[in-house]
Amino acid sequence: MVRKFFEWIISPMGRIAALIAGLSLFTLAAYGVFTLQQSPEQPIQFRHDIHVNLQVQCLYCHPGALRGASPGLPTLTKCWGCHQQIAKTDTSPRLAVLKDYIANGKDIAWVPVAQVPDFVHFNHRPHIAAGVNCEDCHGDMSVQEIAVNPQVMNMGWCLNCHKEKAGDDEVKLTKLTDCGTCHY
Ligand code: HEC
Ligand code: HEC
Ligand code: HEC
Ligand code: HEC
Ligand code: HEC
Repeated sequence: MVRKFFEWIISPMGRIAALIAGLSLFTLAAYGVFTLQQSPEQPIQFRHDIHVNLQVQCLYCHPGALRGASPGLPTLTKCWGCHQQIAKTDTSPRLAVLKDYIANGKDIAWVPVAQVPDFVHFNHRPHIAAGVNCEDCHGDMSVQEIAVNPQVMNMGWCLNCHKEKAGDDEVKLTKLTDCGTCHY
């Protein structure tokens, strides 16, 4: 049985079959890596690069970051405040979807990108108050089209920065590495 298979595999047909099998495995692997790094399919193809380069401030669209746990995502009314006055809104296919949502008074469900599990309590406010910048955690949004998460937001990532920021301050180190600070 094994020997028969071996004879077949070194025959021309066998070699071609092996090549095809190898290629499809490779394609599958490459596809897997590709989908991991791909940004999610969003209901509207909003682009950070355009807006950030127009100097629209992060906090204009995500004002909650200063006030508490979550920055929040803008409502379509906020988009429309600008877009009803912009000529491109009538011509761009990307903006046809926005017009459709507004005309039908539909709510939008953006697909989350940056997330930690529910048992972790992350709060934006102390970070912004301590002078940590949005791009330290979310990367440079001025070069992103559809938002992607630049890093795995796991425990090691949080703790590395907390240890670095605490430096020689023992009290701060204890607080920022205490399990109860992030899990309660
Ligand atoms: C502060 C004003 C402002 C706000 C708020 C705003 N936009 Fe824009 N947006 C613009 C401007 C200006 C452009 C560039 C238009 C141009 O190229 O002529 C633009 C471009 C775009 C484009 C690219 C269109 C294309 O074909 O290149 C999309 C998509 C878009 N906006 C969607 C949105 C969505 C969705 C929201 C709400 C989440 C939003 N915008 C909020 C001002 C704004
Ligand atoms: C004109 C409005 C607008 C501006 C300005 C803007 N954003 Fe956004 N942001 C959005 C919208 C709409 C989404 C949801 C769609 C998406 O994820 O691409 C979003 C999503 C995000 C996400 C992913 C959120 C999630 O659900 O996980 C991050 C992170 C983010 N923005 C950070 C920033 C930062 C940092 C800046 C400033 C450099 C910024 N944004 C400026 C509108 C804006
Ligand atoms: C210390 C790291 C850190 C900094 C600094 C930071 N973020 Fe976040 N951000 C996160 C994490 C972690 C999440 C996921 C939170 C969750 O799942 O509850 C997140 C989630 C978000 C979301 C998702 C939507 C929401 O309301 O949950 C947006 C939008 C966002 N951040 C925008 C910003 C903006 C704008 C700034 C700067 C003003 C900023 N972030 C600064 C780590 C950070
Ligand atoms: C880039 C650096 C950085 C990253 C990444 C980071 N933090 Fe922080 N974190 C800080 C700083 C700085 C402070 C404020 C310390 C102080 O009080 O001076 C802080 C404070 C906090 C606090 C408030 C502690 C208190 O005073 O009660 C919590 C909770 C917290 N972080 C959770 C997280 C979690 C959860 C993550 C990962 C999902 C995370 N942080 C990732 C830098 C960071
Ligand atoms: C600075 C914030 C922070 C501190 C402090 C922290 N954790 Fe976490 N922890 C996280 C984040 C974020 C996750 C979720 C991401 C992950 O699985 O790494 C997590 C996940 C976990 C998990 C689930 C792991 C898994 O594989 O699903 C356990 C268990 C845990 N932490 C225990 C602890 C214990 C015990 C301590 C104290 C020694 C602690 N954590 C301190 C942020 C923190």
